[in-house]
Amino acid sequence: MTDHVSTHQAEEDARNENILIWVDGALKPKPQAVVSVYDSGFMLGDGVWEGLRLYDGRWAFMDDHMDRLFEAAKAIDLDIGRTREQVISALFETQKANGMTTDAHARLMVTRGVKTRPFQHPRLSQQGPTMVIIMEHSRPKLPRPITLATVPHLRGLPMTQDPKLNSHSKLNCILACIAAQKAGADEALMLDIHGFVNTTNACNFFIVRKGAVWTSTGDYCMNGITRQKVIDLCRANGIPVFERNFSLVDTYGADEAFLTGTFGAQTPVGSIDGRQIGTGQMGPMTERLRALYKDLVRA
Ligand SMILES: Cc1ncc(COP(=O)(O)O)c(C=O)c1O
Repeated sequence: MTDHVSTHQAEEDARNENILIWVDGALKPKPQAVVSVYDSGFMLGDGVWEGLRLYDGRWAFMDDHMDRLFEAAKAIDLDIGRTREQVISALFETQKANGMTTDAHARLMVTRGVKTRPFQHPRLSQQGPTMVIIMEHSRPKLPRPITLATVPHLRGLPMTQDPKLNSHSKLNCILACIAAQKAGADEALMLDIHGFVNTTNACNFFIVRKGAVWTSTGDYCMNGITRQKVIDLCRANGIPVFERNFSLVDTYGADEAFLTGTFGAQTPVGSIDGRQIGTGQMGPMTERLRALYKDLVRA
C-alpha cells in the first residue's frame, strides 16, 4: 500500500503558514519561532507536552490536560516555572493572537530548557524551562479507516520510560510507526510486555465485541484523556466496557476497532495485519461513541 494516511491528518489550511507561535512569552511568526540548539528538548527529548483541541470557543477538557501536564512535569522533576493559571493564560493569549475560535489544535511543550554544555546531565539545564505553544487551524480529515500493523516494539514497564509520560522523546513510538509503514500499514499496533494488545504509537486502542467495548488495562499506555472519556461515556450510557487483557486473536475477530486521541476523537480501524476488522468501515458502536463524545464536548 502506498497511500499511507495518518491519524493526525487534517485538511490543508493555508492560514497555518501565518500563525503566531508562543515562545517563552513572545508571540513569533513561524520562521522566527525557534529554540536554541542547546535546548534540552532538542538535544535530548527532555520535556513533556500536551495536545489540546479548541471546539466552539472552548478548550476541551482543559482541567484534565493541565492535571496531566503538571503531573508529568513533577514526575520528571521539571519545574514549569509558571502556575497552572499562567499556562492557561498563555494558551488563551496564543488563541487570541491567532484569532482562532474553533477547530484549532495546540501543542503545548515544556522542556528542561537551555543547557550550558551539550551533555545529558539535567544540572546543565540552568536557565529555566522553555515553553512553546504551537496552535494550528485544524480539521481532521481521514479519507478512509486506518490500517494497523503489529510491530515488535513493546510498551514498556514503568521503570524504564513510563509509557504514561507524554515525553518529548517518542522514539519508541516513532520506530513502531516506521515499522508499521514498512509493513504497508498506516500506524502501529503495540503489544505490552506480556504480548497483550495495548495501544498504538500515537493513540489509545479499543475493540468492540458483541456489543461490548474493550480496551487494555491501561498499565502500559498513555493515560489518554479521550480514552477515559470514552470509558466514562460507555458507563453513563449502559454500554458494557472492559479494561482488560486481550490478545491478537480477540482483536482480529472483533466486530469493530477504533482509536482515541485528542486530535481525531475516535478514529475507525479498517484492518490489522492484513485482516479486515468487521466490515472494514466505521462500525455502529464507533459511530455511536463518536456522537456521544461530540455531545460531551459541546456540553
Ligand atoms: C502514545 C499516545 N497514546 C495516546 C494518546 C492520546 O491521548 P489523549 O486522548 O489524551 O489525546 C497520545 C496523545 O498524546 C499519545 O501520544
